[in-house]
Amino acid sequence: MSTLTGRRAIVTGASRGIGRAIAMRLAAEGAEVAVLARNGEQLAELSDDIQAIGGRCVTQTTDVTESDAFRGALDVAVSELGGADILINNAGGNSFSMPVVATRFSGWQKTMQLNVDSVVHACQVVLPTMLQDQSGAIVNLASIAGLRGSPLMAHYGAAKAAVVSLTQSLALECASNNIRVNALLPGWVETDLTGFLREEESTEEAVLSRVPMRRWGTAKEIADSALFLVSDQSSFMTGQTLIIDGGLSVMP
Ligand SMILES: NC(=O)c1ccc[n+]([C@@H]2O[C@H](COP(=O)([O-])OP(=O)(O)OC[C@H]3O[C@@H](n4cnc5c(N)ncnc54)[C@H](OP(=O)(O)O)[C@@H]3O)[C@@H](O)[C@H]2O)c1
Repeated sequence: MSTLTGRRAIVTGASRGIGRAIAMRLAAEGAEVAVLARNGEQLAELSDDIQAIGGRCVTQTTDVTESDAFRGALDVAVSELGGADILINNAGGNSFSMPVVATRFSGWQKTMQLNVDSVVHACQVVLPTMLQDQSGAIVNLASIAGLRGSPLMAHYGAAKAAVVSLTQSLALECASNNIRVNALLPGWVETDLTGFLREEESTEEAVLSRVPMRRWGTAKEIADSALFLVSDQSSFMTGQTLIIDGGLSVMP
């Protein structure tokens, strides 16, 4: 028996990057997974990869910022899995850098829809089945950007700070129902999201010079921590923020 045999997991933003790595990791540990994202081709490839290791995968092509369609896709995912024991709210990101004074409000709202509203929608759809079962584990992808000031990325930092607070509130609301809610806070991880920082050697050097471990984190390292947070190995842990950043957040 693997760690997650018999468990059913939903992973948003699973077509690439951290979400894909988490979906693969959970499947490798025996979970049946439903994966959601906009890129159907990449989801189909992931599904093939999961089936190749003997797993079961359900795909739903959806945009998490289109709330009604997203909620519908989650409903289908829950129904195809026959319930949900694990929810990974991973879809998120940031598409621009701008001081607050010049940020278009539509850009602010889009960032909130992608990173915060999507977590609320997913929890509202998936929590009822977990409450019925009196069991579940939710992991929200926040960021160390949500822990302190993020100049030129205030929209993203504020969104991830909201995810941290939401995680803590949900954890308290669900603790007596045996549903645990925790957040993962990565630092700089090598994915498409941070690709623009590797285009110029000098930019990459500037980023890594501030990371005590002097390297990018990998999606696999984040997936390993996600596995810990949804497994019984963290069974007395809820409302917590697990930071994985090569030491960046404890720099003086
Ligand atoms: N990489 C880092 O350094 C880092 C650091 C801290 C926190 N994080 C957080 O970790 C999470 C994953 O980041 P990542 O680095 O893996 O990013 P990524 O490589 O850009 O992947 C993002 C994933 O989210 C999906 N996604 C984006 N917008 C979506 C939308 N509107 N609807 C549905 N799916 C959407 C993408 O799929 P489609 O394009 O197919 O929709 C993709 O699967 C995010 O929440 C991010 O904020 C990342």
